[in-house]
Amino acid sequence: MEQYARFKEQHPDAILLFRMGDFYETFYDDAVVASQLLGLTLTSRNNGRADRIPLAGVPHHALDTYLARLIRAGKKVAICEQMEPPQKGKKVVRREVVQVVSPGTVMSDDLLDQKRNNYLVGIFVSGDQLGMATADLSTGMFRASERAADDLWEILERVAPAEVLAPKAWVNDNEAEFAARMPGALLTHIEDWHFGQHYAYDALREHFKVASLKGFGCDDLTVGICAAGGVLCYLRENQKGAVSHITRLAREHTESMMELDLVTQRNLELVTTIQEGRREGTLFGVLDQTCTPQGARTLRTWLSQPLVDVGRIDARLDAVQEFVESAAHRDEAREALRHIGDMERLMSRICCNRANPRELVALQRSLEAVVPLRETLREFRADLLVRARDQGMPDLTELIDLIAHTLEDDPPAQISDGGYIRTGYHKELDELREIASGGRDWVANLQAEEREKTGIASLKVGYNKAFGYYIEVTKANQDKVPAYFVRKQTLVNAERYITPELKDWEAKILGADERARDLERDLFAALREEVAGWVEPVQRTALSVATVDVLSTLAEVAFSNDYVRPQVDNSVRIDVKDGRHPAVEQLLPGGQFVPNDLTIDGEKDQILLITGPNMSGKSTILRQTGLIALLAQVGSFVPAREARIGVVDRIFTRVGASDNLARGESTFLVEMNEAANILNNATPKSLVLLDEIGRGTSTFDGLSIAWAMTEYLHNAEQIQPRTLFATHYHELTELEDLLPRVVNYSVAVREAGDTIAFLHKLVPGGCDHSYGIEVARLAGMPAEMIARAKEILNRLEQNDLSVGSKPQPDRVKENGQMALFAPVAEVKVEREDHPMLSELRDLDIARLTPVEALVKLDAWKRALEE
Ligand SMILES: Nc1ncnc2c1ncn2[C@@H]1O[C@H](COP(=O)(O)OP(=O)(O)O)[C@@H](O)[C@H]1O
Ligand SMILES: [Mg+2]
Repeated sequence: MEQYARFKEQHPDAILLFRMGDFYETFYDDAVVASQLLGLTLTSRNNGRADRIPLAGVPHHALDTYLARLIRAGKKVAICEQMEPPQKGKKVVRREVVQVVSPGTVMSDDLLDQKRNNYLVGIFVSGDQLGMATADLSTGMFRASERAADDLWEILERVAPAEVLAPKAWVNDNEAEFAARMPGALLTHIEDWHFGQHYAYDALREHFKVASLKGFGCDDLTVGICAAGGVLCYLRENQKGAVSHITRLAREHTESMMELDLVTQRNLELVTTIQEGRREGTLFGVLDQTCTPQGARTLRTWLSQPLVDVGRIDARLDAVQEFVESAAHRDEAREALRHIGDMERLMSRICCNRANPRELVALQRSLEAVVPLRETLREFRADLLVRARDQGMPDLTELIDLIAHTLEDDPPAQISDGGYIRTGYHKELDELREIASGGRDWVANLQAEEREKTGIASLKVGYNKAFGYYIEVTKANQDKVPAYFVRKQTLVNAERYITPELKDWEAKILGADERARDLERDLFAALREEVAGWVEPVQRTALSVATVDVLSTLAEVAFSNDYVRPQVDNSVRIDVKDGRHPAVEQLLPGGQFVPNDLTIDGEKDQILLITGPNMSGKSTILRQTGLIALLAQVGSFVPAREARIGVVDRIFTRVGASDNLARGESTFLVEMNEAANILNNATPKSLVLLDEIGRGTSTFDGLSIAWAMTEYLHNAEQIQPRTLFATHYHELTELEDLLPRVVNYSVAVREAGDTIAFLHKLVPGGCDHSYGIEVARLAGMPAEMIARAKEILNRLEQNDLSVGSKPQPDRVKENGQMALFAPVAEVKVEREDHPMLSELRDLDIARLTPVEALVKLDAWKRALEE
């Protein structure tokens, strides 16, 4: 137990699984927790002293299953193995913690989703700067970046890491907020000095064996290096140094990507739907026809990081176009891709010394499948594809041969089973195997021989663990047993014997067997290490395979769903002919989706106000416009007949009254927070999609805010983003006359008597009627209720409650600056006719002395009090 205590001290925050024979045992508090989480019986063990220790164990062969359950429960687990077979006489077996597993450092397929990365994020905050490093141990990905500290939560929520690593001090201050904002993620702290800049820099240099980080473009990072150093230390510690597959540190250039905040990603339903968090009905669901796991992960990444550089976008589009145009070669390439496994994760397991024989053969097969893919790529001219072939798919015949010559074609998964090293690979192994199997043949023959010699027809040769090989004779035949049989064991109906000769052979067989297994294990370890040395070209190949997979997938989707190549440029125009929503069109029966034209242009038609009743298709048009722009910048064809996209630097989407109850903020406050974020961060290159903003509060409040926001987006220089504003406040249509770059649109409905039909067609001009009652009727409300609602509506409409007078946007310019939400539209109030107000209006402040002003004020106040 002293040994146990020592390991536990080294890993206080982990559940320690302590190997004892065929079990992994847990003790003390760990045992209590483990027994609860795993449904084990909690027993106790007398430690030779008076106190009893709580204890719970799992059988060693079921480790993976139990491990998965602990990790899913958000625990960290340290695995302590026996490093030598228990020997008689020697009391304490040498043990070592061979691996620490945490949610951010899992490697096993049971715990990983093939189609998404498993991120460990390290953060280091200094002043207003945030250093961030993102790693995926299962693929070898490692990136660093520097951001504004204010964006920390936003970024974390977007990346959705399995585990976040931070200095102790930060953890102490932020633990509670972390738990509230990032449920399901583990927060781990390590000592602050791991994040020290010099320490971190040296650790990185040493790991990558480079003189400086210039080659990675990371030499000028400061807090980014601190974060990366922290992550590297943690991974090395957890994996006991076996992280050779982390071969480079990439610099993440956030400015070269379209920004998509979390709310926007959700609202556009990129990877999960808003309603049920499903994958069907999302953009990823429509696009994911990838053939390989690394392709699926890359597609996901591309979707969350669209490009902003026209040249890079066009390079992708060129490749997609070539795949679209040559169906035969596309099919050929995709057929080859289907035979390629998860090379990235296989290689990572190999480098972490976790791969078994079957996984090495899987890598070999994948590498073999790259050969025909490379051949097919010869047919292509697009730059990205040429580069993928010439630079990204090096000749790995030597590696393929190495594995193929060493391992059997269809080896067992367990290393301990033996029988995976190919015959002919190693002379001594072959000899040992021959002795062992020759021995087994000899034993088999022995039975026949002895039967003949003794005349006992039922004599059997058998084997068990306790006694080894034996000869069994039934009680009935005891009189025929020869003298040289030595009795070993008595059973109910039989006696078991051995002979000296039998024991000689036994020693030979078992000795050879054991030595063969040891030798196989050593040979395999050596092979795995040698294969690990190929990490760089294999990772490069995996990356190219992923790229080719995604590009061909985008082409496949474009081809089967009739997408068109968008024209992408640096204008501030978006011009879409017959655009469709990629996911909604698939949910509707063929041909039922109504395509729409839409033009928006920062210089002329900057803000499109889209009115229309509920269910007419407003939100769909907003989303489809966002998705078309996003797809174009990902380098994909788009669901339209024609599309021209001026590059968007950032898409903002806000949906009125979206729920965020989980965080306990009122929906309206959330809505306003989000709106303020747009007003503060939008640029003329942004695309703003406002869906029913202002819905979360009373009508007048909401209307005023919506009105003022429109004015602000229209007038504030530096901002003026392209904006689509869907609203049921038909009062806002008046803005078209007041603001030159606001244009009214509506989604057409056809009135037929008392009811309406949705045409889903976007047409110029506002809609002056909300059709709420008609929609209620469609929803099946009782007829009397509908009639009563009409009556109330008529009465309300007779009192003029609408916004009347003109707002004065020009005032913004006069004041030189503009406050948020100001100036609001002047809402017609009765008090406007009050004599005091006209007096105030006529007052010339410039000619007033302070005393005169005070006197006036005093007079008014008294008049009011009367
Ligand atoms: N262009 C379209 N063609 C066919 N059906 C559509 C179209 N746009 C929307 N719909 C259908 O109408 C429903 C409501 O659309 P939505 O955009 O949510 O309306 P709104 O935001 O105006 O309330 C969608 O679920 C979809 O089934
Ligand atoms: Mg809507």
